[in-house]
Amino acid sequence: MSNTIVEVEDLTMAYQEQPVLWDIDVKIMKGSRTAIIGPNGAGKSTLIKGILELEKPLSGRVSIMGTNFDAIKNKVAYIPQASEVNWDFPTTVEDVVLMGRYVHLGWIKRPRKIDYEKTHQALKEIGIYEYKDRQISQLSGGQRQRVFIARAIAQEAEIYFMDEPLAGVDKRTEKIFIDFVKRIQQKGHTSIVVHHDLNTIKQYFDHVIILNKRLIAAGPTEEVFVHDNLVKANMTWGGEI
Ligand SMILES: Nc1ncnc2c1ncn2[C@@H]1O[C@H](COP(=O)(O)OP(=O)(O)OP(=O)(O)O)[C@@H](O)[C@H]1O
Ligand SMILES: [Mg+2]
Repeated sequence: MSNTIVEVEDLTMAYQEQPVLWDIDVKIMKGSRTAIIGPNGAGKSTLIKGILELEKPLSGRVSIMGTNFDAIKNKVAYIPQASEVNWDFPTTVEDVVLMGRYVHLGWIKRPRKIDYEKTHQALKEIGIYEYKDRQISQLSGGQRQRVFIARAIAQEAEIYFMDEPLAGVDKRTEKIFIDFVKRIQQKGHTSIVVHHDLNTIKQYFDHVIILNKRLIAAGPTEEVFVHDNLVKANMTWGGEI
């Protein structure tokens, strides 16, 4: 179908040959705001890694924009889960965000004026411009998340995979992030976001993928984000749907 941007077929992912995600069949719509939800250890991060070919599947196929990842990788932005990043790596806030622009630069080119401008604009938008020369090891948890969000904003990709970008951020940062996600949707771009706060799913996302080692359900939020599916995924929750 023409408005499918990511197609996953029969995907099984394993670490040391132990499967952690079984037989996933899922389509992600172009221009959607898609949440991936599921309990800890459900395989949410692993699904993204499978799609982006960061981990090799045990079996199955993935296509992005009708081709493989290599062909379109400069159109893809990826924000890993913060806990998977080496924050002691000696680099500055500005450099992390600027690196998001490298896809626009070609091989070993110097960043241009426009790359610095986009980087500084993004840092200002998310409120960490004053920290631009600081080492990333010297940031609070929420500030680190903001560096990642700034990087995504500066990158200008067509499809964004973001693994818990809102973990530990304040409400103001959350609002800036969601405004950004809605803005890119208006350009027809796609965001795929691992999200833990079930209270905001309906408000923030128009599509949901529910995982718990297998695919529990996927589709438009109003069809999929229902009590039965959350029970099947073993996601207990006191909120209202
Ligand atoms: N590098 C690895 N080596 C071995 N097992 C791993 C590795 N990474 C993840 N796992 C295991 O795979 C399963 C899925 O992990 P994954 O990180 O995808 O879960 P998740 O849904 O993203 O969880 P969380 O909400 O905690 O981020 C878990 O049981 C985890 O322990
Ligand atoms: Mg994860």
